[in-house]
Amino acid sequence: MEFAKRMERLGTETAFSVLAKAKALEAQGREIIHLEIGEPDFDTPSHIVEAGCRALRDGHTHYTPTAGIPELREAIAIEVARSRGIEVDPEQVVVTPGGKPIMFFAILALVDEGDEVLVPNPSFPIYESMVNFVGGRPVFVPLRQENEFRFDLDEFRAGLSEHTSLVILNSPANPTGGVLTPEDIAGLADVLRERPDVFVLSDEIYSRMLYESPFASIASEPDLGPDDRTIILDGFSKTYAMTGWRLGYGVMPIPLAEQMTKLQVNSNSCTNAATQYAGLEALAGPQDSVDLMLSEFRARRDLIVAGLNELPGVECLVPQGAFYAFPRITGCPADALADLLLEEAGVACLAGTAFGRYGEDHLRFSYANSRENIARAIEHIGQLLSRTVTQ
Ligand SMILES: Cc1ncc(COP(=O)(O)O)c(C=O)c1O
Repeated sequence: MEFAKRMERLGTETAFSVLAKAKALEAQGREIIHLEIGEPDFDTPSHIVEAGCRALRDGHTHYTPTAGIPELREAIAIEVARSRGIEVDPEQVVVTPGGKPIMFFAILALVDEGDEVLVPNPSFPIYESMVNFVGGRPVFVPLRQENEFRFDLDEFRAGLSEHTSLVILNSPANPTGGVLTPEDIAGLADVLRERPDVFVLSDEIYSRMLYESPFASIASEPDLGPDDRTIILDGFSKTYAMTGWRLGYGVMPIPLAEQMTKLQVNSNSCTNAATQYAGLEALAGPQDSVDLMLSEFRARRDLIVAGLNELPGVECLVPQGAFYAFPRITGCPADALADLLLEEAGVACLAGTAFGRYGEDHLRFSYANSRENIARAIEHIGQLLSRTVTQ
């Protein structure tokens, strides 16, 4: 079968293939602890589920406006304005089935063939995949453990060229759990102010999943707001445990929102109607489930980090946000180790290289699993490492 040439340039997200492999092993009767997939293991809070069901019963079973129902766009504008301290018009909001389409649409709308895009490395693999797909060139800016997985500002500046059209930021970050500090953001803003022609895609999907410091967004910086040239990507998947509902959004300059709306009408028509009403309830309703989830994630984080640091050849920083631990493991290549962990120890995780070459020597463990399973996983990992790494 022959496909369009561009399909050769499209990458993938390894988390889904490892999940499939782990499920296949489970089907053979093997017991697997899932630390590979990046989704909260909690159920969506019941008041949100009820709002979705109510919407269906009330007849919200039709197409909605392409960019989203006005009530939800308004609620998002208010939430984004509150959390980032900026003014946002509902017209700047585009509601999409998950946050991922905002990545897809932003890159399609802004990156021409030959354009360069600054991409953190390691980072969410879809950034690189999409930039390659549209014929752009990803320019990687390393995130190193020595620097708490934050940018080195000189390296960031050196990555910019006359061909740069877009910069991608992600804080709190997948896969490292790293967070850009307010000082980092201010430094990046200074550099970017010198380049008013460059757009910024700020992936803030983990903005509510911060353990130590308050959230800082590049969109709060003068000249870098969504009125200017920053696209905020955020959504409901992580914050409200709604991955399967598919609900996310982008906030951006109105002319770009119009282009994204055009991309959406060409692809999805609109986001699922009942899901949008559920999202409205998520924003308007009680937020205690978000706090509860975060405090459980914090306990799991402390458990997994302490456990990993006890193991031979393992060094794990304390993640400041999201729900991933990204330890450095010496003594065995990470790809081979991830395979061994799945096949021999029954622990599913991802090799750091699934997120780019600077992920070498790292593994990503999602700690969106029970404390009991995390403790068991640490035991199994320890047994495997003492058999392989220290031999
Ligand atoms: C950094 C990052 N951005 C965006 C997404 C997309 O999330 P969704 O499309 O479920 O909203 C993910 C999901 O894992 C992610 O890790």
